[in-house]
Amino acid sequence: MIQTVAVSLGERSYDVVIGTGLLPNAGSRLAPFFRRPRTIIVTDETVASLHLPALQSGLEAGGIQSEAIIVPPGESSKSWPVLERVVEALLAHRVERDDLVIAFGGGVIGDLAGFASAILRRGVGFIQIPTSLLAQVDSSVGGKTGINSPLGKNLIGAFHQPRHVLIDIDVLDTLSNREFLAGYGEVVKYGLLGDADFFDWLEVEGPRLRDGDKTGRIEAVRRSVAAKAGIVSRDEKEQGERALLNLGHTFGHALEAATGYSDRLLHGEGVAVGMGLAFTLSARLGLCAQETPSRVAAHFADMGMKRVMADIPGDLPDADGLIELMAQDKKVVDSVPAFILCHAIGEAFVNRDVPPDTVRAVLENALR
Ligand code: GLY
Repeated sequence: MIQTVAVSLGERSYDVVIGTGLLPNAGSRLAPFFRRPRTIIVTDETVASLHLPALQSGLEAGGIQSEAIIVPPGESSKSWPVLERVVEALLAHRVERDDLVIAFGGGVIGDLAGFASAILRRGVGFIQIPTSLLAQVDSSVGGKTGINSPLGKNLIGAFHQPRHVLIDIDVLDTLSNREFLAGYGEVVKYGLLGDADFFDWLEVEGPRLRDGDKTGRIEAVRRSVAAKAGIVSRDEKEQGERALLNLGHTFGHALEAATGYSDRLLHGEGVAVGMGLAFTLSARLGLCAQETPSRVAAHFADMGMKRVMADIPGDLPDADGLIELMAQDKKVVDSVPAFILCHAIGEAFVNRDVPPDTVRAVLENALR
């Protein structure tokens, strides 16, 4: 079963193709996008050892020659030194203005290869082939690319839309349960922020998806990508609605910073704990029903996800320490952090007016 979702952005529109068995057919699927039949794949060591031969032989079967630039796995590759290495290697491979680079990996690779493509020769095209659930439902769609600064995550970057996104659900089979669930946090996000029916569906189907059901996984990814495509088509540069995609991120980024962006807390785990806190804050402000946060938490518990701060191993800063970390978030305007809050499941909105004392009270309670 193959599903296609269109991202409508005028002449920069593209399709996201979702299905199984796509890597072995990558060449015939992607050939129409290439001016000359050669490409450079940017990937990391982990993805290369698991899936690079399948992608390269799939490309070759469609007449596309490829070479790979392989970087170390992990967030530390979203850095100036690795970016420099990738850009220089692309130039050494003689990538021209009309060639296409392939970003083959999770969110780190998509952001890094996408940004390298954005600045190479003032912009070459690229194709996203995301291999983590998180990248499939979030970072490979929408054109946010970039690297981290020592001063914060994603502070250096560009909007650069891919020409095409190929999502092979089969590659999720090699993810650990923990990585799958971290990506699933971003799937649930689409239900929580704008689609209560999708959340209802996930409450029933979520455990089956987690356990490997491919039809369900395709449907969950399709609905997530369709939700994101709609938002990005209406608000590409995050002037308004796109900010809703940051549900859970104000708290989540502070927790990621507090845990040193380490293995203690994966990004999607931080988002899930952050979404729980966003619902608790919404209830405390009287914006949503008191029982809504428990319904969200119950689903996370059913899935076996991290859902509260006590699930994060090791010590955390106190409430004031976390508030200080929030103030460094890139969504801060005039020192006021933006919170995405909810009137109900599926009804999120941006609020820049949250009383700091209420945030502190929610954090103090959650840290107890
Ligand atoms: N990951 C949030 C966005 O793409 O806007």
